[in-house]
Amino acid sequence: MFNHNVGIDAIHFYTPKVYLDLADLATARLTPVEKFKVGIGQEKMSLIEPFEDIVTMAAEAAYDIVKGREHVIGLVLFATESGVDFSKAAGVYLHQLLGLQPHCRVLEVKQACYAATGALMLAKDYVMTHPGQQALVVASDVAWYGLNTPGEVTQGAGAIAMMVKENPRFAIIHEHHAIVDNQQDFYRPAYHEVPIVDGKLSIRSYKTLLQQIRFNLPLEYVCFHMPFAVMSDKASETLIQPLKPEVLLATKFFNKEVGNIYNGSLYLSLLSLLSTATKNLMGETIGMFSYGSGATAEAFTLSMVEGYTSQFYPNKITTNITARKRVDMATYEQLMATYASKEKSLNFTPNLMPNQHRFYLKAIVQGHRQYEKNQALL
Ligand code: HMG
Repeated sequence: MFNHNVGIDAIHFYTPKVYLDLADLATARLTPVEKFKVGIGQEKMSLIEPFEDIVTMAAEAAYDIVKGREHVIGLVLFATESGVDFSKAAGVYLHQLLGLQPHCRVLEVKQACYAATGALMLAKDYVMTHPGQQALVVASDVAWYGLNTPGEVTQGAGAIAMMVKENPRFAIIHEHHAIVDNQQDFYRPAYHEVPIVDGKLSIRSYKTLLQQIRFNLPLEYVCFHMPFAVMSDKASETLIQPLKPEVLLATKFFNKEVGNIYNGSLYLSLLSLLSTATKNLMGETIGMFSYGSGATAEAFTLSMVEGYTSQFYPNKITTNITARKRVDMATYEQLMATYASKEKSLNFTPNLMPNQHRFYLKAIVQGHRQYEKNQALL
């Protein structure tokens, strides 16, 4: 008999340590700041540094929740649409950095921002059929639309890591409904540096799929995939019972500061809600709506279990976000130019090495990535 009591045992998040304030972007793009901060609903965007990538961000997010379980992880699913290699899965680098046991299935999973949710459901099935084993699901992305594009204001970078196991101590995953509908709202062909986006179509497609699989019952708490904060307002309006304003506000708390992190955005919204909730949500049901352009979506629910508050780290997340350093427009443009050229380079060495990062990219040599751990911080 399968154990259906399966779900997320622990969850964590990481975002890079520098950001651009959207007031600076608005000034530079000759746009009213209210459009970005009210119309789009975002405050800041995290920016990736030259010694970081999707692997180092994933390692930073995963390290604390993986520690001590290296020998029981039989599956690593790395969800990303910012892949650094068309053949080798980013998870293979991550597996080594985290020191996981070798008899492990490691795969990269792709379907725009939905892949992490698809991976979570596959991990749940894996755990049900492999008693005693656990699965690591990571979502790590750099949302990069290019300078002077409509999507520029909705950029960001970050990673989410989740441990999936039987009898979880964070949340049980319940019924889910997936849907797929071939759309050309957002896609990035192999030869293209940034996505090709029809922003208005993407919003219509998101809302259409949400209406087709929306929750049948009114729910007090729902988290949505959040490409930008006001998208959640639009999504909430389509529910049988729209969210209370204070709940909606809580679901955006970290996302407004970080920007779109693609695959991790839905789960960052969950962490926002839990970190700012004014009461313990043990026993509560939280609706989760995942959307990935292209387009796929899934609606599912989580029920929070006793002791969930010790299975995520609101203080560490808050410190990570508030301790970031603000950079100016010139630095932003330089960082993004480095990011774009790095991912096309056969050989690359960052111009400086970090001292506050536990994991970092030391070099790319003949296309192969070399990572280092800062043992003093582990
Ligand atoms: P835009 O054309 O620059 O913006 O694109 P706009 O003209 O539509 O304005 C945005 C809002 O600001 C509007 O509000 C304006 O009224 C308001 P709305 O009518 O929508 O409620 N506004 C103002 N408000 C206050 N003061 C002002 C002012 N001026 C205007 N002065 C768009 C916006 C989001 C389309 C663009 O940034 C974009 O293309 N972003 C990327 C695509 C995206 O995020 N799509 C979301 C759904 S698809 C998705 O979620 C998947 C995704 O994560 C990728 C994946 O799955 O991999 C993106």
